[in-house]
This record gives sequence, structure tokens and C-alpha cells, in this order.
Amino acid sequence: MAKSLLGLFLLAVLCTSRANAGYTVTFPSSGDVLDANTPYNVTWILNQDTPTEPAVDVRLVKGPPENLKEQMKICKSIDPAALSCPFLVPPTMATGIDYAITVGKDPANYGYTPFFTIQGVGEIPLTNNGCPNMGGHNCNSLATPCCGVNGFCGNGPNFCGEGCQAAYSNGGTCVQPEPAKEPVPNEPKAVPKRKRFVKF
Ligand SMILES: *[C@@H]1O[C@H](CO)[C@@H](O)[C@H](O)[C@H]1NC(C)=O
Repeated sequence: MAKSLLGLFLLAVLCTSRANAGYTVTFPSSGDVLDANTPYNVTWILNQDTPTEPAVDVRLVKGPPENLKEQMKICKSIDPAALSCPFLVPPTMATGIDYAITVGKDPANYGYTPFFTIQGVGEIPLTNNGCPNMGGHNCNSLATPCCGVNGFCGNGPNFCGEGCQAAYSNGGTCVQPEPAKEPVPNEPKAVPKRKRFVKF
């Protein structure tokens, strides 16, 4: 549940729909700590019967959810049906609690892990100053402004409603901001109103 919420969040940030996501990444997951200089396998499942792409990259990313920066390509142009990619965490990798992995070629198809921790060079911070499962980051995106009861960023009543953690939410409040109004170009000036519907 929590994982899919983060996936949904990250997808929302990238303006894609969840239906487009080609892959669900099953390892690493939220709460995992990967040690530097240690071998792991990134694993995933296909969300469709057949892969949406002939080849995928597996990328390590890091940073705030609305601005994830690629750190390295873990596997390059591999068959998505492999469902696995070996990941030897580089010995020099910096410690961080805001690492994530993407699987896919086209960003619209990316499957995302939730944030996980790499223990490398440097100490893991003792305090997590952010929405609890968001790698030390607050929910600053207008698309997903609220740190919900489960410690993930999102929008709507499940995040901004009961249990929402205002301190980690956009502007310190559990409120979904009004979307900016876009000017309507060439709006017809005098459209006669013929009918009025009153709804009760
Ligand atoms: C990764 O997967 C390969 C192939 O299935 C397996 O031989 C290897 O032991 C796995 N490595 C780890 C660290 O799990």
C-alpha cells in the first residue's frame, strides 16, 4: 500500500499516469539499507503481459521527489523480461536516505522504488527531518502537497485529511493549494446565456 502510494506520487510528479508504468520494482523497498561494496539484485515485475519496451535502463537516483538526480546507470539497455539487474553498490557511494531506483527506458514507463538508504561514506543521519518515508524531504510539490498519515506525500483526503502531518506538508499546512488559473485565450466575449440549470 505505502509503496504504491509513493509510486503514485513520483508518477504524479512526472506528469504520467500510473497506468503507463511498465514495471513494479520489488527490491529495494522502503526501509531497506544497502551497504556500499556489497552485491544486490534489483528486481521487478512487469505490469503488462509483455514488456512495453524492448530494452530498459536501471538507474540509481537521489534527491527530493520532484527533482530526482541520476547518480549512475546500474544496468544499461537490458531485456526487461530479465526481471533482475545486479547492483554492486560502489564503495565510494555517499550515505543517503533519499536514494531510489527507476526501471524503464522512457520516463513515462518508469517503475520506481520508494526511497531507501545506502550506507556508504558518511553516517546515516540520526534524525529524519521530513515526511517520514520521503528520504528526509518535505512534501513541497503542488501536485502532492500533504505528508499523509502513512508518511508519504500525496494529495486528496487520504493525505491532506485525518492524520496528515502538517509540519512536513507544503507551507506547513495540510491543505491542497488551489491550482493556478490559466488564462483562457480568445474567450468569446458575449455568449448569450439561453438556459440556466439549477442543481439541488
Ligand atoms: C543475483 O541473481 C543471480 C541470478 O539469479 C544470483 O546468482 C545471485 O546470487 C544473486 N545475487 C544476490 C546478491 O542476491
